[in-house]
Amino acid sequence: MKKIILSGMRPTGKLHIGHYAAVLKNWVELQKEYDCFFMVADLHALTTEYTNTKEIKNNTYAIVADWLSCGIDPEKSVVFCQSDVPEHSELHLILSMLTPLGWLYSCPTYKEQLKEQSLKDLKTYGFLGYPVLQAADILLYKSQYVPVGKDQIPHVELTRQIARRFNSLYGDYFPEPKELLTETPYIPGIDGRKMSKSYNNCIYLTDTQEEIEKKILKMFTDPKKIHKNDPGDPTNCVVLAFHKVFNKEEAEEIEKLCREGKLGCVEDKRNLSKILYSILEPIRKERGKYTTQKIEEVLLKGKIKAQEVAKITISEVKNLIGLF
Ligand code: TRP
Repeated sequence: MKKIILSGMRPTGKLHIGHYAAVLKNWVELQKEYDCFFMVADLHALTTEYTNTKEIKNNTYAIVADWLSCGIDPEKSVVFCQSDVPEHSELHLILSMLTPLGWLYSCPTYKEQLKEQSLKDLKTYGFLGYPVLQAADILLYKSQYVPVGKDQIPHVELTRQIARRFNSLYGDYFPEPKELLTETPYIPGIDGRKMSKSYNNCIYLTDTQEEIEKKILKMFTDPKKIHKNDPGDPTNCVVLAFHKVFNKEEAEEIEKLCREGKLGCVEDKRNLSKILYSILEPIRKERGKYTTQKIEEVLLKGKIKAQEVAKITISEVKNLIGLF
């Protein structure tokens, strides 16, 4: 039997090349070895976007189209939307009964987000319970592994605590999931800050060749390198950071040429444009296949497959607790 994996993303907008390199490439590989559940966490989006819900559905379509065009295969993996499977909400409610408030208040992501998103009113019951909902996502499918970035470790840890608490109260039932950390390459935005929609510095999976070129020409490089034959210091150069991720074989040589003053930034950028185009163009072409109707079909099939498992878990859980 293959081991079970679940991961999710909040539908906060279309995906950029950083998501591709750090998350999706990895998910595509995991499909070969594991039974994978890939979920659009739209209820999680609601915890912070409850006043601004009109984009959630469109973002869900966009994210799923991005996943599929990067190689997530709905024949192999269960691709679904969280709110389509009400068992997530049901398990969330049950787990909330046994989760101490202290665990939630002391969760580092809770404290951070309250500070970072101070413009939103996040002093809500639902937002505090964000990790309980995530625990429900993971435990509903008895997932053994959860591929996530470092920032999500506290949530997987909390999931284990909640599972242990459940097991000690009602009998050994849930496996304790482990995080599956992948080496996440550092991909800065074109201005050198973190790549983020809110900084307007992303290269999107849907960008055309012209858009890619334009963005790359704007990339931050060594400001002291003015003429193409000036020796450069590419320590903070975004172009080199991209070569290190997307053009590993040549990155070292490129760095050397830059330091020796043998490679101008414009030429370097033109080369990078070609490389990124060759990665992104097949994805963009693939994306053309995914009409709204096709995505709805994929999500419906995912919902059915997810519910086959989720319904059994809920009925076993209720049984263990002593409910109907
Ligand atoms: N909290 C995750 C994030 O922000 C998204 C998520 C929701 C998730 N449910 C999950 C990730 C379950 C892994 C497993 O990235």
